[in-house]
Amino acid sequence: MTRLSRRDVLRLIVITGAAALLIPLERLTGFLYAERNVGPVTYPREQVSNTADIAVNGSLFFEYPHKDRPAVLVHLSDGRFVAYDATCTHLGCQVHYDEVAAKGWEGNPQQVFCPCHGGVFDPQTGKVLGGPALRPLPKIKLEIDDNGDIFANGYESGLPLYGEG
Ligand code: FES
Repeated sequence: MTRLSRRDVLRLIVITGAAALLIPLERLTGFLYAERNVGPVTYPREQVSNTADIAVNGSLFFEYPHKDRPAVLVHLSDGRFVAYDATCTHLGCQVHYDEVAAKGWEGNPQQVFCPCHGGVFDPQTGKVLGGPALRPLPKIKLEIDDNGDIFANGYESGLPLYGEG
């Protein structure tokens, strides 16, 4: 029977300890790498409306990027058009744009509201202005052609989509 020297035992302890530390790190790295390496998601280019069809301060619901996913197109008072994923980033209720401010927000008309817990979002950016939501609404990239047709074509910011990330 071979006796292990004190040096061999120490070496064995160091190797076992290093393995115990490195194996979980390798798994964690693999997990993180896999999460990041999901690959680019592509979104469809779809016509939403026409600029002539929505009055200033008006809005329109549509489905994007797939059926049953609500989105809202807003014609801002400065003439620009913006669109957002209309699923609240708090707990997933559907938000809507109001020309008239909700109670308690009279000083801030024209906001995007969530009726479930009073979430308020900035229609210019999608950022949270009030309520319990912590993340902004995903902002949809819009393209407007020479005929005034408005197309949704992916997202500018705010991903992942609530419930799909
Ligand atoms: Fe919108 Fe809670 S689900 S504020």
